[in-house]
Amino acid sequence: VETALRRGSSSSHFLLRPFSSGSLPDRKVAILGAAGGIGQPLSLLLKLNPLVSSLSLYDIAGTPGVAADVSHINTRAEVAGYAGEDQLGKALEGSDVVIIPAGVPRKPGMTRDDLFNINAGIVKSLATAIAKYCPNALVNMISNPVNSTVPIAAEVFKKAGTYDEKKLFGVTTLDVLRAKTFYAAKAKVPVEEVNVPVVGGHAGITILPLFSQATPASNSLSHEDIKALTKRTQDGGTEVVEAKAGKGSATLSMAYAGAIFAEACLKGLNGVPDIIECSFVQSNITELPFFASKVRLGKNGVEEVLGLGPLSDFEKQGLESLKSELKSSIEKGIKFANEN
Ligand code: NAD
Ligand code: LMR
Repeated sequence: VETALRRGSSSSHFLLRPFSSGSLPDRKVAILGAAGGIGQPLSLLLKLNPLVSSLSLYDIAGTPGVAADVSHINTRAEVAGYAGEDQLGKALEGSDVVIIPAGVPRKPGMTRDDLFNINAGIVKSLATAIAKYCPNALVNMISNPVNSTVPIAAEVFKKAGTYDEKKLFGVTTLDVLRAKTFYAAKAKVPVEEVNVPVVGGHAGITILPLFSQATPASNSLSHEDIKALTKRTQDGGTEVVEAKAGKGSATLSMAYAGAIFAEACLKGLNGVPDIIECSFVQSNITELPFFASKVRLGKNGVEEVLGLGPLSDFEKQGLESLKSELKSSIEKGIKFANEN
């Protein structure tokens, strides 16, 4: 069993491993917003993942087509499509992991917080259904603004009496992928060997890559280089929004990031040791109630929220300057959940 569980343990190569479900446990993954720009390629990537035995695709419309399409791929997961609110319960029942990319994306000139008015309500209603139909599932929140949607879901779960802080995750994996990609190119090191923790939150200056902890270490980067890499990572989402010029935000790289994070959650559930990813979770490593940092994943979700490690002076400054924005985004989410 252990061999089967460890199969393909390098997440960046998960598409390359041979398909075999062997003695892997059954795992149901639901995607809410599965017909969207992220939802469709994410559905494809999870259909390719042998850790998934059942793939449940939910959206307000369009999911029967997406489900029929990916279901013809000859891999383990049984696929079902559900459309419309009356099918949401069935889509969620028995889920081990629920991934939420439902909601509107940014257009040029918008901040992620500008999405709050629409997406907060969507997330609230989906979280209410999760509390009812699969209260034990691990929830991977992709919908923006993540700094507020995660606290919204937490409040909904608290009110329903189902909140388990170990099971709610804001997906910040795309920030990590960007930091790795940009660092590798600048430091001229092989991208597949690079690791960079990214902490804080998921919007602008709240995204804090810790390049002082990047591996392989580089001594060729100047302070100006590190400042530029930090800014590019913080503005990575905006770079894509502007390039798409009104046609949405990152979808393909986000689907890849979402698939990596979901796979880490599944491996943790399956008892694979030493699964560590950055994520925006309930935290006490700073004074803020939610914070992104490295977390160790296990059979119940978060096994341990890891500390920040040693920070450079530049990173210490970044940490202090992000706190007030992150605090108010968290509070905005909590207020919304309790007033609406
Ligand atoms: P999209 O508009 O292409 O797709 C969103 C999907 O959500 C649509 O299919 C829509 O029908 C569906 N939807 C709307 N209301 C719903 C509801 N109540 N229940 C179920 N589904 C519903 O958008 P997209 O590009 O896929 O982006 C989705 C979200 O992900 C946005 O909020 C975006 O900002 C966010 N995002 C987050 C990250 C991240 O790093 N966390 C990265 C990229 C995008
Ligand atoms: C991203 O980082 O790409 C997402 O949060 C989408 C966005 O609006 O930038």
